Parts: sequence; structure tokens; C-alpha cells
Amino acid sequence: MARKPGMDRSDLFNINAGIVKNLVSSCADNCPKALIGIITNPVNTTVAIAAEVLKKKGVYNPTRLFGVTTLDVIRSSTFVAEIYGKDPRDINVPVIGGHSGITILPLLSQSGFEFSQDDADIMTKRIQNAGTEVVEAKAGGGSATLSMGQAAAKFGLSLVRALNGEKDVVECTYVEGSGDLARFFAQPVLLGKNGVEKILDYGSLSEFEQNTLNEALDTLRSDIKIGEEFLK
Ligand SMILES: NC(=O)c1ccc[n+]([C@@H]2O[C@H](COP(=O)([O-])OP(=O)(O)OC[C@H]3O[C@@H](n4cnc5c(N)ncnc54)[C@H](O)[C@@H]3O)[C@@H](O)[C@H]2O)c1
Repeated sequence: MARKPGMDRSDLFNINAGIVKNLVSSCADNCPKALIGIITNPVNTTVAIAAEVLKKKGVYNPTRLFGVTTLDVIRSSTFVAEIYGKDPRDINVPVIGGHSGITILPLLSQSGFEFSQDDADIMTKRIQNAGTEVVEAKAGGGSATLSMGQAAAKFGLSLVRALNGEKDVVECTYVEGSGDLARFFAQPVLLGKNGVEKILDYGSLSEFEQNTLNEALDTLRSDIKIGEEFLK
């Protein structure tokens, strides 16, 4: 189910949590070694549900489960490209954290373009709210379905390229890593034949980005906890 105007991604929880639980449970029974990309919102939470379902079934492998946050990357490069009159495909803005509201953190300081603190603030909020902008524009007709399709295709094809042995396939995606900041965290990941090959360092943050990240962590951790509790 997609959002309607006035809803945030967490309002989808009650319906989508059950759908994800059932689908992932079938994956555990029928294709336990599949690489699973969860794009269903609220992604911050549905990925935790998927992990717990797989764990309960004894087949959880953190290198094979992904939250698809590619749309945040597509939006970031598109909006930056619009400002500077460039082709979005030539622009790379890593997006770290999670996939809702303040947990979406585009690293504009790594875009190759200068952003003042005010401009970074405005652009960050625009990227964070881009999904809501679409939900409101469609006025009850659904969410960012087509751009989500583009994001799913981009991420899915990256996984296929990595499975085919292509080297240097990197996508920002929401995975279980070291847990230093949160159990699940989106950041650049090198993909390989077994899914996550290596979780890459996201580099240094501007002061604005560091502050934004600090403010987002409680929300991200509590979104994850809701998913873990759901299975209990
Ligand atoms: N991660 C992202 O970047 C991103 C972006 C946009 C939307 N989304 C999420 O994607 C989801 C779908 O959004 P949408 O705009 O495509 O909505 P939509 O209403 O257009 O499509 C939902 C589809 O799910 C199917 N469906 C309903 N119940 C199901 C079930 N129990 N099992 C399997 N399929 C079922 C429906 O038949 C329909 O085809 C929502 O959760 C939305 O929040 C994620």
C-alpha cells in the first residue's frame, strides 16, 4: 500500500508489515538464498521485519538483504543536476542513513558542487520531502510509483551485474553492518556474487551533515526497533 496525502511512511506500517512478513516468509521457505531487496515502506522498519522473519526461519544472511534507497540517490542527483544544468547521470550524491524524513541524508558536500549551509539545508529538505511532494500532487492516486520503478530497476540491475561477476558495482543501500550507528544503515556498498561484498566508508561529512545525522539517529533506531518488536 502506498501513502495518501497527510500520511507519512510510518502510517503504512500496520498493513505493509504483514505483507512483508508473508512475502519474506515465503522467500525463506522457497528461495532462502535469494538476494532480497525491500522497497515497501516504511523501509527503515520493513527491512528489520524481513531480517527477523529470516532469522526465525534460520536462514538470515545480512549480506543478502537490502533496503532499496536508490530513489533518494536518483532524486539527489536529479535536483543537483537541475540547478547546475547538468545530466543527472553525471552526478553522484551518496545518500546515507535511512529512507524517511530526517533519516534521509544526502551528502551534498561530496557532490562536486559547492553548497552554502543554507543551500544545503534547503536542498536536503527538498530531497527528504520529495516523496511527500509526489504523494500530495497525486492527491490520493498513489505514491512515486514510476520513479520507484526506476529505482528498483537500477538497484536490481546492479545486483544482477554483480552476480554476473562485474567488479566495482557500488550502490547506496540500507543493510545490516557494524551497527556502530544503527543496526541497519544506508551507505555505499560494494556488491558482489554473494550480495554485500563490502560496506564502504561514506567518507567525511560537513558540519551540517554531521549535525543532521546526529539528529536522525534516534528516529532511525526507533524505526528499526518497531520492526524487531513486530515479530515478537
Ligand atoms: N522505497 C521507495 O523508494 C519507494 C518509493 C515509492 C513507493 N514506495 C512504496 O512502494 C509500495 C507500493 O507503492 P505504489 O505507489 O506502487 O502503490 P500501488 O498501490 O500503485 O501498488 C501496490 C501494488 O501492491 C499490490 N499488493 C497489494 N497487496 C498485496 C499483497 N498482500 N501481496 C502482494 N502484492 C500486493 C497491489 O495489487 C498493487 O499492484 C508502498 O509501500 C510505497 O510506500 C517505496
